Amino acid sequence: MAQQKPLRLGVLVSGNGSNLQALIDFSKTQVANYQIDVVISNKKNAYALERAKQNNIPVFTVEHQQFATKLLFEDKIIATLKQFNIDLVVLAGFMRILTANFLNKLPNRVINIHPALCPAFPGAHAIKQALDKKVWFTGCTVHLVTEGVDEGPIIAQAVVPISRDDNEISLTLKVQKQEHLLLPKIINDIARGNQIIGQTNDDGKKNYL
Ligand code: GRF
Repeated sequence: MAQQKPLRLGVLVSGNGSNLQALIDFSKTQVANYQIDVVISNKKNAYALERAKQNNIPVFTVEHQQFATKLLFEDKIIATLKQFNIDLVVLAGFMRILTANFLNKLPNRVINIHPALCPAFPGAHAIKQALDKKVWFTGCTVHLVTEGVDEGPIIAQAVVPISRDDNEISLTLKVQKQEHLLLPKIINDIARGNQIIGQTNDDGKKNYL
């Protein structure tokens, strides 16, 4: 179903926030059908927070170390997202693994960007793994988040050819260039109803966002 009002995003980050920046930049274009309502970081020094503040987006730091259990940490993030009536949660370099406790409260509402062609190279060192395996192509994947690390249903991918003289820095730059194009485009497609996410129901129909 096409979304009439802009899709409301909550973006979870842990670091530099170059993907957040790409989302912010695209959100300012005429074709954008989403808005970023809140940015939440589990790291207080994440540069992503500065990027959000510079664009007057509300920011919250929810440090996992401050919570006795993962459940309490996750529930604090959920409560913050609910406060902003978020339609879709985007993990953009968020370096914590979310459990069923979190995901069941936002079914089909959490997506992630991973710097590899899933299901290849899950986890934190996807670029290094691609170089070590000497594959000729890698890329990036936008996928629905499930409990398994970087293994949820794939929504979209972009391919990046690897040169024999690529190193971790050069390949990271190439992959991130594609991430910055893919992530905003796919979220905008979701917002416009042109991209379906979610599982097929028993009756064969898709769950639409
Ligand atoms: C990106 O490469 C993303 O694929 C991965 O973490 C990195 C985050 O980079 N999940 P940034 O913080 O968006 O610059």
